[in-house]
Amino acid sequence: MQKSQDELMNEFSVFMERFSAQSDALELAYKALEMQSEQLKKMQEEVNQSRVLSALGEMAATVAHEIGNPLGGIGGYASLLARGIPPEDPKRKYVDKIIGGISSLNKIVGNLLAYTKKTHLQKQKTDLVAWAEAILAHAEIEIEKEKKKVSLERDFPAEFLNAEIDGERLQQVMLNLLINGIQAIEVEGKISVSIRSNENFAEITVADTGKGIKPENLKNIFTPFFTTKEQGTGLGLAIVKKIVDLHEGEILVESIPGKGTKFCLKIPI
Ligand SMILES: Nc1ncnc2c1ncn2[C@@H]1O[C@H](COP(=O)(O)OP(=O)(O)OP(=O)(O)O)[C@@H](O)[C@H]1O
Ligand SMILES: [Mg+2]
Repeated sequence: MQKSQDELMNEFSVFMERFSAQSDALELAYKALEMQSEQLKKMQEEVNQSRVLSALGEMAATVAHEIGNPLGGIGGYASLLARGIPPEDPKRKYVDKIIGGISSLNKIVGNLLAYTKKTHLQKQKTDLVAWAEAILAHAEIEIEKEKKKVSLERDFPAEFLNAEIDGERLQQVMLNLLINGIQAIEVEGKISVSIRSNENFAEITVADTGKGIKPENLKNIFTPFFTTKEQGTGLGLAIVKKIVDLHEGEILVESIPGKGTKFCLKIPI
């Protein structure tokens, strides 16, 4: 039996509806594919960039290591020279300048090595209170060196507080935060350090009453080589971030220009 024209038209319109639905689905699938390909391209670019960075890091580590050895020798001999020259001798000024320059170079080399070196954590059961007290003793020496009036306040648990951490690496973190705090204070101020914990993580805060960080700089402070200081390497906080990441921890910062800055570390224990 032959189909009527109406029937044919009906079938045709059902077919067209299906065709158009499928064509919509195809278009969606195509868009999704396009997005995935875009994402893949981005990932490929990121992989390439991190390859370049890691090659650069390795090169920096090798150069820093090679420079470190002769630098140690030069520093040693310069100190020996200084010992033989009385302070009133005009030559002494030059030798002291050489020693100052070497100490700046040592800082750059040390920071480059700390940032680029492949680090494996050596975690050990550590009493955070005793650990922090030892670090604050180092900070007191820094305060004296900088000739500033900075008081160190503590808010620590009354007794010990045990945590499984790499105390040496985290000491580097704390010292970098404390030294930044001291440097941010012009003449007189306060740095408060607190330690708290729950069963999952320890929370350590370092807050200073220094000059604060401009809002536009806040997003850059953990980027390697970002510095606003004449003598800075800009690696201090990059090292901090690296060590905190290795602990699978977190670091947060709040800052009010003219009032101060507070860093909060969360370390799983
Ligand atoms: N507590 C702080 N108060 C004010 N600014 C800070 C503070 N901590 C960090 N910053 C800002 O972040 C920048 C980066 O800090 P980072 O420690 O990485 O490098 P740096 O201190 O400049 O150099 P280096 O650590 O080598 O001495 C600093 O130059 C400063 O502008
Ligand atoms: Mg610093």
